Amino acid sequence: MERTHTCGQLRAADAGREATLMGWVNRRRSLGGLIFIDLRDREGITQVVFNPSISAAAHSLAEEMRPEYVVAVHGVVRLRPEGASNANLATGEVELEATQAEVLNPAKTPPFYINEDAEIDEPLRLRYRYLDLRRAKVKNNILFRHRVVKYIRDWLDKRGFVEIETPILVKETPGGAREFLVPSRIQQGSFYALPQSPQQFKQILMVAGFDKYFQIARCFRDEDLRADRQPEFTQLDMEMSFVDQENVLQITESLLTDLVESLGTHRLLAKPFPRLTYDEAMAKYGSDKPDLRFGLEIVDISDLAGASEFKVFQAALATGGQVKALRAPGLGHYSRRELDELVQFAQNRGAKGLMTVELAEGGPKSPLTKFMTAGQMDRLAQLLNAQRGDLILIVADRPDVVAEALGQLRLEVGRRLNFMDPNLLAFAWVLQMPLLEWNDQEGHWQSKHHQFTMPMDEDLHLLDTAPQRVRAKQYDVVCNGTEVGGGSIRIHRRELQEKIFRLIGMSDEEARGMFGHMLEAFEYGTPPHGGIAPGIDRLVMLLSGAENIREVIPFPKTQSGVDLLTGAPSPVTRRRLADLGLTLLPEAARTAWQSDNP
Ligand code: AMO
Ligand code: AMP
Repeated sequence: MERTHTCGQLRAADAGREATLMGWVNRRRSLGGLIFIDLRDREGITQVVFNPSISAAAHSLAEEMRPEYVVAVHGVVRLRPEGASNANLATGEVELEATQAEVLNPAKTPPFYINEDAEIDEPLRLRYRYLDLRRAKVKNNILFRHRVVKYIRDWLDKRGFVEIETPILVKETPGGAREFLVPSRIQQGSFYALPQSPQQFKQILMVAGFDKYFQIARCFRDEDLRADRQPEFTQLDMEMSFVDQENVLQITESLLTDLVESLGTHRLLAKPFPRLTYDEAMAKYGSDKPDLRFGLEIVDISDLAGASEFKVFQAALATGGQVKALRAPGLGHYSRRELDELVQFAQNRGAKGLMTVELAEGGPKSPLTKFMTAGQMDRLAQLLNAQRGDLILIVADRPDVVAEALGQLRLEVGRRLNFMDPNLLAFAWVLQMPLLEWNDQEGHWQSKHHQFTMPMDEDLHLLDTAPQRVRAKQYDVVCNGTEVGGGSIRIHRRELQEKIFRLIGMSDEEARGMFGHMLEAFEYGTPPHGGIAPGIDRLVMLLSGAENIREVIPFPKTQSGVDLLTGAPSPVTRRRLADLGLTLLPEAARTAWQSDNP
């Protein structure tokens, strides 16, 4: 038998035709002497009916068929009888009446149902990922991902971008995310690193004159994992020559906008994307990746709080802290227990306490009423635009603690009030990030993005005197509370690059040892250039509405970095280690020894 159609293809217009389908048994039922099989493949499901008076042989074979058997069926396409069509199925108007059948391969009973949308333990799903990938939801995510990537490739190709591959075995670059290392056999004692991103190569491609580069690039980071992080992930890596920040923002925004609009799964909240400075984002939303699907801005009430008699506020302000507040619309009826829950929530995120003010019928209810006049209370409500029935949440502390606690409370309130519309995408740019941050442990500055990021022109003069105030030509594109992508305009002159290396605590020798190739390249005619890298996994996660990055990655790793399907990482034999010139510490050796002697 030779396949003539997929299981998602047959329609009413095909009635009367002969067809051969191949696929997996999704479900089998017997009814009045007939056997019905839902045959499934990537494209869909077609109902096959086995009638003993049409073919006794096919019918008796169908009796043996079990879920997940791989079968081939030949027969005639028929319109389903009146009332038997299935509007939920693209092929629902027809069925295939089998004249011939073959079991291509039987299957063991799967550890979970493929044909139901039930909640299944994730480790089990990952252990049997090939079965999990047969399930409609995950399969559709993977097919959707293909469409996203294909769209991006075509879009960039039309605009003169060239896709170029860069190496996976690269030189180690300290600073930034921790890298995975790969021991060299031929040069024992030396290691390759797996790239955290193709950053250096894409800049070198600009020196080489390729002008507009992109790559659907696999990146590797040995970090602690979270719901939106994997140790290997994929970036849409881009770099352009002769551009300034505005050009990069425009091209990225236009790609993302076209992508979202062509997929048609979501509505864009704002076009063009709003732009916030980093300081603004931190001040208003307590986050550098704010969820802008809703307002609820955080308000500075330090002046008012300073005028109150409340010691906690005064103490915070006296030590350089802030007092800030958030309005929770309509939550003024919260019970003692519900308020305590919010206090606990804030404390779990670093706040020492949380002051609550309920704007109740008979006036504000709060421990603060003892320390503030009625006039001050009115002023508080006014500053927050709060009305009767609202709840006001106040945190006094160091600015970073206030931002974290109120930023998280803002999201929590948004969640409780269903302000996070899953059909909306609220993209925004976060600009003017600080170039450097202080590394307390090592006692020097370090790059906030990476060491090739260009300072803003107007801040260059601060590099020597006030490095903490230097802002960078760096930009993040955020969406619904997730950082989707980040990039920057790069330093393209050797002197400035060397200066930054010195600032971040590298001696000239160290810089030359690690980045000599970059510094050298910069002396052979380097165009001004810049780029960006949106994360493909995160983008697909947002666009598909998945809750977790693992839902859009065909073969993801667990939170502890394990591939449950293949069992990676796994111990290796001592002989393999010896080839590489390695020995293990005693602790680690025990597992290796076990693998030598199973
Ligand atoms: P950055 O480190 O900001 O920039 O990364 C860019 C984007 O990659 C995605 N991303 C991740 N996705 C899944 N799992 C991870 N562990 C992970 N880490 C990062 C995010 C992030 O916004 N070379 C620079 C880009 C540049 O300057 O052009 C870079 O890698 O979506
Ligand atoms: P305490 O004096 O610790 O019992 O706190 C008195 C009230 O002030 C309680 O409602 C606390 O939740 C609140 N509170 C304490 N510390 C802070 C803070 N840093 N910011 C806001 N409220 C606080």
